[in-house]
Amino acid sequence: MKGQEWYQAPEVAADYETKRFSNGGALIDRREKRAVLDAVGPVKGKRVLEIACGTGRFTTMLAERGAAIVGLDISPAMLKQGRAKARAAGADGDLAFLRGDAARLPFPDDHFETVVAMRFFHLADTPASYLAELRRVASEQVVFDTFTRFSTRSIYNWLLPMGSRLYSRWEVERLLDGAGLGLAGVEHDFLLPYGLYRKLPDGLARSLRDVDAAAVGVPVGRALASVCYWDARVEG
Ligand SMILES: C[S@@+](CC[C@H](N)C(=O)[O-])C[C@H]1O[C@@H](n2cnc3c(N)ncnc32)[C@H](O)[C@@H]1O
Repeated sequence: MKGQEWYQAPEVAADYETKRFSNGGALIDRREKRAVLDAVGPVKGKRVLEIACGTGRFTTMLAERGAAIVGLDISPAMLKQGRAKARAAGADGDLAFLRGDAARLPFPDDHFETVVAMRFFHLADTPASYLAELRRVASEQVVFDTFTRFSTRSIYNWLLPMGSRLYSRWEVERLLDGAGLGLAGVEHDFLLPYGLYRKLPDGLARSLRDVDAAAVGVPVGRALASVCYWDARVEG
């Protein structure tokens, strides 16, 4: 698993959100949160697990909307940030942060209605086994994102310290099939890779985002988009 050690460092955890979601990166944070909310729908009273929850961007958001949620991550440093941010946001609902490995989740089968995994599968060396484990503890739904193989992300990937695992639609469909999940919906977005946005000041990023959103509104742009947000449902 890429990044398992990287995210243990307190300074990496402390800088995680500032590095990715300040300046133009704020647009990415908002888009990802919308993708999760669109996929999960109303969560009041729902049992939700977020794996690789990191600093808890989605854990806290879903707790604020009434989910009974566990945010699980392997890094104590990321969890520490998550707990502090949840406290600062005043999220005091049914919310727990837990240290654990997504490869061996400490929950019985079908324990949660929904399992969310954002920015996780690009780090996964064995995605099929992770997806099977997420599916095991989900009774209804698994929501996750991937970076796309034939997209601008593949060029940008060379510049990244850890790189990313990239996925074609065919690969994701095969993974879903193997895990007993069916595809309920997918959204494609960001013709331009995330990294470009976070280097830009807010105003410029917003203008670029308008062009980008228009481009992914047409089939060619969609096919080349760098990110997919997947909504998968438990079959049978
Ligand atoms: C790119 S961050 C994403 C954090 C969060 N999901 C977000 O979107 O902001 C990846 C996270 O995966 C966690 N991670 C890596 N390997 C893991 C594993 N085997 N089990 C659980 N978490 C893991 C890291 O500690 C890190 O917090």
